[in-house]
Order: sequence, then structure tokens, then C-alpha cells
Amino acid sequence: MKIIMLGAPGAGKGTQAKMIAEKCGIPHISTGDIFRANIKQGTELGRKAKTYMDQGLLVPDELVCDLVVDRIKQDDCERGYILDGFPRTIPQAHALEDALSAIGQKIDYAIDIDVPDENIIDRMAGRRSCPKCGATYHIKYNPTKAEGICDVCGGEVVLREDDKPETVKNRLSVYHEQTQPLIDFYSERNALAEINGVQPMEKVFEDIVNLIGA
Ligand code: AP5
Ligand code: MG
Repeated sequence: MKIIMLGAPGAGKGTQAKMIAEKCGIPHISTGDIFRANIKQGTELGRKAKTYMDQGLLVPDELVCDLVVDRIKQDDCERGYILDGFPRTIPQAHALEDALSAIGQKIDYAIDIDVPDENIIDRMAGRRSCPKCGATYHIKYNPTKAEGICDVCGGEVVLREDDKPETVKNRLSVYHEQTQPLIDFYSERNALAEINGVQPMEKVFEDIVNLIGA
């Protein structure tokens, strides 16, 4: 099963991708997580990506496409994968399509988690992430058991650098300009599924499970 998670920043792509990956036993590949790991390790890629991410801009296609195309060729992707945050531009979608069609494959589902802009700001301001293990919480909708402490690894949870309101506004406009056109792209390929993202997380998950028959 090869799945793409579409949707605005904060729509719940990561939250749902993690749960689906676990249920289906396939890898969750988040380009945002890959960049954040590189930033933490101080790599050249991380250094380059950070200058864009901190402003709420997209990292250039040439730094993203090969990275993902190489990743999905690894052995653990044989039974499928969930791409979270890729593709994000039409050139990225073409790069993925070309790489897959070269081996006679295609994406099964492009799932668009639909959440209006007005809900996004609230979600981002309340999100807390664990820089150590990557777990994500929300102070209202999905709080940690002990305040400020990650349930999974005991690390300190923080507001992501790009979740400050000014940066979130930029990320939203970049989303509408560059990523939303992918909805038509995958609709034309009969791969698009729209899911209502303004429901409790468990209900969003249930809708996705029913859709993909997992
Ligand atoms: P990335 O990390 O992918 O960020 P994003 O797309 O902006 O999405 P988020 O991770 O912010 O949100 P999400 O949809 O995963 O929501 P979440 O589940 O956390 O990318 C970061 C940056 O990296 C980009 O800006 C760009 O610079 C760069 N980048 C990455 N990929 C790239 C690419 N392909 N090309 C170029 N650049 C790239 O949920 C959000 C919050 O809401 C959480 O607190 C959660 O607990 C809560 N929540 C989730 N679901 C619900 C619900 N149903 N009800 C209530 N609350 C909910
Ligand atoms: Mg995410």
C-alpha cells in the first residue's frame, strides 16, 4: 500500500500517518522529520534546509526529490509506505510519478485531510513536539500525561520553531500556492480521497482505515 498524506500544515498528517503506519506495518516517511533530524545532527542538508524552514518556505525541490526517491527504494518499503509532507509541489509529484512508473508502480491513495485555515492557527499554537523522539501532542486535544514531558521518552516537549504565528501564516500561503494544486493532480489520476479533518483524531483515523480497508 503506497499512501500520500496531503493537507495543510497542522491538518494532522503526521498524527494520522503514524497510526496508519503502525496498523499496516509499513514505514512512515516524513520529509519534515528527516530535515529536523538533519538539523539536529548539524549536517550540510540540515543547514541548508533550516534557512527555508525557519521562514516557513519550502526547501528547494532538488534537495528533496532524490532523498525521497532513494528512501522508497529501501527494503523496508517493499510492502508500501506512507509519505507525509511529500510531494508538496507539482515538480515533486512528477518526480515521484516518474520514479514509480519506471518500476511499473503507482500511488494507491493520496489522502487530503481537509481542515480550514481558521482551525490551523489554533492547532499550531497548541502543538508540542518532542525533539528527542519526534512524538507530537496538543495542549488541548492530545496533552502529555505529565505537563511538558513526553509520554514516550521522558524528554521535554517544545513549541516547534516554525509554529510561531507569523511563520504559520507564511506556511499556509505557501501551502495554498504550491501544494494545493496537488489535489487536482491526484484527482485526475483517480487517487484522491478527501477526509474531513475537523473531527476528533480517532474519527479521522477510522475514516482513513475504512477508506483503505486496513
Ligand atoms: P512538515 O514537518 O511536513 O510540516 P507541515 O506540512 O507544515 O505539517 P505539520 O507537521 O506542521 O502538520 P501535520 O499535518 O503533520 O499535523 P500534526 O499531525 O502534527 O514540514 C516542515 C517544513 O519542512 C516545511 O515548512 C518545509 O520548509 C520543509 N519541508 C518538508 N517537506 C518538504 C517538501 N516535500 N518539499 C519542500 N519542503 C519541505 O497535527 C498538528 C497539531 O494538531 C498537533 O498538535 C496534533 O496533536 C493536533 N491534531 C491533529 N489532529 C487533530 C484533530 N483531529 N483534532 C484536533 N487536534 C488535532
Ligand atoms: Mg507533520
